[in-house]
Amino acid sequence: MLDKLANRWLLENLRTAILWFDKDFHLRYINPAGEALLQVSSRQVIGQHARVIFPSTLCFERLVQTNNTVVEYNLSLPLQAGRDTHVDCSLNTLSHPSDRYMNNYLVELIPIEYKRHLNQASAQSQRAHAAHDMLRGLAHEIKNPLGGIRGAAQLLAGTLPEPDLQEYTDVIIEEADRLQNLLNQMLGSRKPAQPRLHNVHKTLCRIVQLLSSENDNVNFIADYDPSIPDVLIDVDQLHQVLLNLMRNALQALEQQQKSEIRIRTRVQTHTVLLNQAHKMSICIDIEDNGPGIPEDMQETIFYPMVSGRVGGSGLGLSIAQDLIQQNGGLISFETESGRTCFSVIFPILKN
Ligand SMILES: Nc1ncnc2c1ncn2[C@@H]1O[C@H](COP(=O)(O)OP(=O)(O)OP(=O)(O)O)[C@@H](O)[C@H]1O
Ligand SMILES: [Mg+2]
Repeated sequence: MLDKLANRWLLENLRTAILWFDKDFHLRYINPAGEALLQVSSRQVIGQHARVIFPSTLCFERLVQTNNTVVEYNLSLPLQAGRDTHVDCSLNTLSHPSDRYMNNYLVELIPIEYKRHLNQASAQSQRAHAAHDMLRGLAHEIKNPLGGIRGAAQLLAGTLPEPDLQEYTDVIIEEADRLQNLLNQMLGSRKPAQPRLHNVHKTLCRIVQLLSSENDNVNFIADYDPSIPDVLIDVDQLHQVLLNLMRNALQALEQQQKSEIRIRTRVQTHTVLLNQAHKMSICIDIEDNGPGIPEDMQETIFYPMVSGRVGGSGLGLSIAQDLIQQNGGLISFETESGRTCFSVIFPILKN
């Protein structure tokens, strides 16, 4: 039998949002997952009527009429903060012998869109990771004979009877160097992540400063949550990831009249990343008002060598995903015409 403390502890650690209303629909309790989902604090909402908490009716009327359990799937729930969230929702009438608890209501909310979104991102990134590993293997195999070809061309150049023929060995050497550079990029750095305590806003400010001086036609809008604590992360890797994403956004905005990049930082609670549940994580959004990612590219965008740009090597996103995964995180994206948002999410780990 669970004691009171254990009951409370379980509720506080549930990943499902739990709300308990009295018989007049005034809120008596909300657990931390509920606070996070509805973006409210319990102090703010305890005692409030259900209609205030859920700006549109949440089938409460129906519940009262039928006095039954109501389950709604994929319910769009407008939040007080203005945004919508999508949930699976169940409402139960509580029957209890004591008057105090008779006809109270228990609401359970499970966020689905976000869950689906992250699951998709996770599956997609795992496939991309496998493709990346295969290409790395291939790149490695090509590198050795390529070194041999370059060396032989150099030797040959020194022994040619006619200096004019050197033109051809020069072509071999130049092309071998070009391939070598590409392979080095594909192989990337396999340096393991070296995390240290760091304030992510420092990195963001530095990158924005650098890029805004190069792109004065782009409006950079910073929307940072100052309460975000210092986190354990490989600072160089984080820098490279964010720089890649912002450069992509800038490239997407090249034909845009009024270009905007919005950078948002938020804390997220109860997030599953790469099959691991984390109580707290950081989400950094890089959002641009460019044309969006073509639909036929979306599935494979994190694969190496996938590019929609003339002259693009298609390695930026694949490397960024790889780097952030080394830090226990994930990159996901949402895109439509006029809005593309890449989100870098990683757990808040402290010493
Ligand atoms: N914010 C964005 N808006 C629209 N399309 C994008 C955005 N970010 C990435 N893309 C598309 O995804 C493709 C892949 O990006 P990725 O960074 O992997 O490679 P790349 O930018 O083409 O080359 P590089 O290796 O030099 O970064 C891009 O070529 C572009 O077509
Ligand atoms: Mg790129």
